[in-house]
Amino acid sequence: MEQRILNVDAGYEAMDQYWKESGTKHLLLVCGASLQHTPLDACFAALPKRLGIAVTRFSGFQPNPEYASVVEGVRVFQNRGCDAIAAAGGGSAIDVAKCIRLWCRADRRKNLLEQTDAFDAIPFLAVPTTAGSGSEATRFAAIYHQGKKLSIAHEGCRPSAVCFVPEALNTLPAYHRKAAMLDALCHGIESCWSLRATQESRAYARQAIQKIMESYEGYIQNQADGVTQTDCNAAMLQAAHLAGKAIDIAQTTAGHAMSYQLTRRYGVAHGHAVALCVAWLWPHLLEHTQRCTDSRSRAHLDCGLQDIAQAMGCPSARQAAERFRCILESLQLGVPSVGEAAIDDLVASVAPERLNNYPILLSSAELAKLYRDILHLRQTNATKGGSGNAADCQL
Ligand SMILES: [Fe+2]
Repeated sequence: MEQRILNVDAGYEAMDQYWKESGTKHLLLVCGASLQHTPLDACFAALPKRLGIAVTRFSGFQPNPEYASVVEGVRVFQNRGCDAIAAAGGGSAIDVAKCIRLWCRADRRKNLLEQTDAFDAIPFLAVPTTAGSGSEATRFAAIYHQGKKLSIAHEGCRPSAVCFVPEALNTLPAYHRKAAMLDALCHGIESCWSLRATQESRAYARQAIQKIMESYEGYIQNQADGVTQTDCNAAMLQAAHLAGKAIDIAQTTAGHAMSYQLTRRYGVAHGHAVALCVAWLWPHLLEHTQRCTDSRSRAHLDCGLQDIAQAMGCPSARQAAERFRCILESLQLGVPSVGEAAIDDLVASVAPERLNNYPILLSSAELAKLYRDILHLRQTNATKGGSGNAADCQL
């Protein structure tokens, strides 16, 4: 079913209309603690008075949410007799809400992962309060179980409606703002070179990248000449949503595959970790396009790389890669302090199936070299046995 985009206004009439039309009586609101700093908090708090809809809040999850949090969310949903879900937050809140919706009728005493057939298309509204993951546009949810990342892919995960509230981004911390913007930009880039890229996904990606290039400086500074903070936020929300639509079709590639353990082990924010990986993967890919595994020929890959360059306003793919690195450096996010001893574990942690969409095959030796470049470890240190195993993140 087509996802509805609700245009928010000062009184949230479009959102109220959605709840009324769907016959919602008891809403499970999946949200992080940061919701209280946004105008959305009052909007949801007044729902019982305004529309007679009961609201149960669920915030029992952490960034990079665990399977156990989803089970707890399903328990709350079922015990409180909820009949609809709203997610107001960043990628983690939306991912948890997606999973609760997928399993809201499941038997939580059994393994939820084996019960996707129990899906019930209850009303599900997503209100992203960060501009990056584009999670509100996709059928994917990421959760962690027993130390491993699980990617849940199901149409039931896709919110039935999305509402953009630019003012909800006003209080985002600077690091979060930068990392989320990089996540959206990398979704656009990776979806263009993905083996699953289609004309449709590349069209979404080009629009997303172009919009990010036009608006990221004002968005990062939280101000821009002649443009309001709300306009900057609105542009980035739209860009992240378009990039989300692109990865919903093309899916992510090696940049994301290599990033997950940098986030998991060293606390590097997701978008920051992905950007560190993409900054080194990109020139490496340009050096080895002749190894392209795309059955539609190398021309298809070249076309995708050219699409990125054009959307970034660069005359060549090489200059686009360089421009990306300059943007990343200008944000001054730093690199986690990780020793040579961690390299083998990092390489081993990259799930081979997650590299499948990448247009060239990466050997273990290449992954190790890329991680050393990403982490600024000199190759000579590797041959000497490394510089220790410090794993504290200096961001
Ligand atoms: Fe991402």
